[in-house]
Amino acid sequence: VEVRSLRVGEGARLREFRLRALDDAPHAYYWSRAAEEAITAAEWERWADTPTADRIMFVAERDDEWFGMAGCSLRGDGTLDATGMWVLPSARGRSLGELLIDAIIAWGRSRGATTMEFAVTETNEVAIALYRRLGFAPTGKRRPLASNPDLTGMFMAKPI
Ligand SMILES: CC(C)(COP(=O)(O)OP(=O)(O)OC[C@H]1O[C@@H](n2cnc3c(N)ncnc32)[C@H](O)[C@@H]1OP(=O)(O)O)[C@@H](O)C(=O)NCCC(=O)NCCS
Repeated sequence: VEVRSLRVGEGARLREFRLRALDDAPHAYYWSRAAEEAITAAEWERWADTPTADRIMFVAERDDEWFGMAGCSLRGDGTLDATGMWVLPSARGRSLGELLIDAIIAWGRSRGATTMEFAVTETNEVAIALYRRLGFAPTGKRRPLASNPDLTGMFMAKPI
């Protein structure tokens, strides 16, 4: 499995994969499927790797099939906001999640980022355990999910 960045022209394929993630694990994401269905084709295409991009999406791929995804955008203060981590249920437990995070960190460092941050639903024990193992710690900031205000996202971060 190779972790690589999204290429120009793959926005529509990313949209389809992301909607699969939202169907599989709606509790894990801030936005609902309905909200993301409304995102324009041009916005999806903005996740492609280009020299001037302030955001990037990585996919874990084998034989042209995607098994996972995770992305990030770079804030002006040097923080990388990571988003959209998903691994196909059949491919979990094989470190694809960790490889995707490694790819984000490497990209962030090359762009001068100093911190990586994201929100994870407080009840998502598998994801939280993975992030803790990789050195992320809760920042104390929390917010309810727009997709389900009964659930709360907690922010985790680490210096990179
Ligand atoms: C969180 C997620 C991305 C992790 O992906 P992954 O490729 O399985 O990650 P890794 O293989 O690097 O690590 C997974 C850990 O979970 C453990 N695990 C727990 N339940 C598991 C299961 N049902 N299947 C496989 N692994 C499982 C693994 O043993 C592994 O533990 P370790 O870190 O002690 O080795 C994946 O579970 C997922 O897509 N979940 C649904 C969406 C989600 O929660 N996204 C996170 C949003 S913040």
